[in-house]
Amino acid sequence: MIDLHSHILSALDDGAADVAASIEMARIAVGDGITHMACTPHVVPGKYENSVSTILPAMHTLQAMLDAQSIPLTLYCGADVHVAPDLVERLRDGEVPTLNRTRYFLLEPPHEILPPRLEDFANRLLESGFVPIITHPERLLWASRHFDVVQRLADLGCPLQLTADSLTGGFGAAARQLTERILNEGRASFFASDAHGVSWRKPVMSGARAMVAERFGQEVADQMFHDRPAAILADAEPSAVLPSSRRTAGAPASPGLARRLADRIFRADRIFRNG
Ligand SMILES: [Fe+2]
Repeated sequence: MIDLHSHILSALDDGAADVAASIEMARIAVGDGITHMACTPHVVPGKYENSVSTILPAMHTLQAMLDAQSIPLTLYCGADVHVAPDLVERLRDGEVPTLNRTRYFLLEPPHEILPPRLEDFANRLLESGFVPIITHPERLLWASRHFDVVQRLADLGCPLQLTADSLTGGFGAAARQLTERILNEGRASFFASDAHGVSWRKPVMSGARAMVAERFGQEVADQMFHDRPAAILADAEPSAVLPSSRRTAGAPASPGLARRLADRIFRADRIFRNG
C-alpha cells in the first residue's frame, strides 16, 4: 500500500513526538503492508510555518535512519496545506511542497467552518496547473450540512482523500457515514492514514482496505490503496487519479495505466526524490 498523508516527521507539527516515534511509526506502517509513504507535515500560516526547506531535509534524515535500520519504507516529500490567500504563489515558488514535486498537493480545508468561496479557490488552483487533493472531507464538521460543496469539488476535478480510520470507525459514526456515502457515490479517489503517532491515529490501513475489497472488489481496493496514489507520485494525468465517474468525457484511463505508472515510478523513485 501507498500512504500519501502522514505526520511521521517529528518536531515539525503535532505528529510524531520525537525521532523514536517516527521510527516506530515506520515499523508499524511496514508491518501493516505500507511500502511507500509521503511525509506531509501541516503548513499553517502563523502556526506551523513549514516549507520545502524544513520538510525535505527532515525527510532525508529519517530515510537515512530507516535505511540504516533496514526498515523498508520509501519516503516522499509533501505537505498538509491549509487554505491561505497566497497559496498559488507559494506553490509556484516551490516554497510549499506538492507531493513528490508533482502537480498534486494535499489541501486541508478548515474543519469547523466552510470557508467562503472554497470552490472558487479550488478552481483558481486548478487553472494555475495544480491539483488540490481535498483531505478527509468525511471528517470536516461542515461536510454533512454542505455535502453539495464536497460533491462539486469532486466534480471540478479535485481528488477526494478519505481516511482509513474513518471507514473502520476510529473517527465516530458521523465520519463513517460520510465515508460510506462518498464511496457509494463513486466520488472517492484514494485512502490515506493521516497518521499522527504510535498509539491512536497510527499508520495502519489494512483493515479499511479489506472492507473496501469486500464491498467493492479487489480491483477497487487496489486502485484506492495503491494504484491511484502511485499515479499521483508519478504525476500522471488526473484521468489516472480520479474515480471513473468523475473523469471528463473523452479522457478515459486505460485499465492498466495506473499500474504501469506505478511500476515506472518505483524503478525511478530514488532519482525522483532527490529534489
Ligand atoms: Fe493531516
